Amino acid sequence: MSRLFARRSSGRSVGDLDPDEVKPVVDDYAELFDGSVEERKDRYHSVVNHYYNLATDFYEFGWGRSFHFAPRRRGESFGDAILRHELFLAERLDLTSDMQVLDVGCGVGGPMANLARHTGASFVGINLNEYQIERAKRHTRDVQTQCRFIHGDYMQVPEGDESFDAAFNIEATPHAPDKTAVFREIFRVLRPGGKFAGYEWCLTDAFDSANAEHMRIKQRVMKGNGLPDISHTSEVSEALIEAGFELVEVRDLAPEADPETPWYRALQGRDLSLASVPRTPIGRALTNLALRIGEGLRIVPEGAREISSVLNAGADALVEGGETGVFTPMFYYLAIKPGGSDD
Ligand SMILES: C[S@@+](CC[C@H](N)C(=O)[O-])C[C@H]1O[C@@H](n2cnc3c(N)ncnc32)[C@H](O)[C@@H]1O
Repeated sequence: MSRLFARRSSGRSVGDLDPDEVKPVVDDYAELFDGSVEERKDRYHSVVNHYYNLATDFYEFGWGRSFHFAPRRRGESFGDAILRHELFLAERLDLTSDMQVLDVGCGVGGPMANLARHTGASFVGINLNEYQIERAKRHTRDVQTQCRFIHGDYMQVPEGDESFDAAFNIEATPHAPDKTAVFREIFRVLRPGGKFAGYEWCLTDAFDSANAEHMRIKQRVMKGNGLPDISHTSEVSEALIEAGFELVEVRDLAPEADPETPWYRALQGRDLSLASVPRTPIGRALTNLALRIGEGLRIVPEGAREISSVLNAGADALVEGGETGVFTPMFYYLAIKPGGSDD
């Protein structure tokens, strides 16, 4: 547990907050989810920063450095599927070593490190969460000449017009308060002919807002994952077009996984290995228990177990969303800014 809550020099992870500061942050976060969608959208900085200040260490511990899902093929390991899912975008974007690429909401830099190693391209990662940027700098040390980070908001990218050859977004814009506005901002910083690809968290055609069970799943996915709302797949396509992009490809990749290893399997614990334990219901329950003991002994801050419970409820809701088919975290799109030399 000490690894989870190691003190660090700067940034605001759980381990960096004073023990007394954790509980108020957890409470404020919980209150935001008792409020309206509009309130969460207005306060999206707080939603995202509270969430990732609280969750980043848990994610790195239980999931790894790439904070996203992947459709798995038969016999493929979790790690191999994660890497393949990232390289799929690199191929679709035709990334080459002479390109400047924007990583929208770059997390702790796992995908950027992999893409820098495999393509030789140069990357700029933008992230609202300062603590994650610190982690990302560590995780990209071996490719640091190709990687730069901006602590900032992807709704207002502090870079000039047409400064990137390509851009990608791996499960980062589900946090955006306005999908069209964030896509418009990416459109602005891309050169004409530049491509933008990503994976979005979406409600599918199977979702029925009149179905109380579906609405309950949606609410729990939002709260457990720091989202102001969740868009339907069609809304994401429409937002890209409204922002000025031409759509080249869109599809939900979830049905393309081997039926034995759907994207949410990593959260179910059906294929236990030592490395996978922290992701599973048993591992998550054990973490929760250890935190309860740690809170009692005052070696972890009060509120840590509540964070773990919120994340666990979010993980269970994701499994339900996957099993019922009402939700996907991998609505894939490839879009292009018109006006390139090929037009
Ligand atoms: C689910 S994580 C995905 C991270 C990364 N793309 C990956 O796949 O590992 C979402 C990321 O989006 C970032 N994010 C959310 N809202 C943001 C905003 N308004 N501006 C910049 N980054 C944001 C979060 O801080 C987090 O790093």
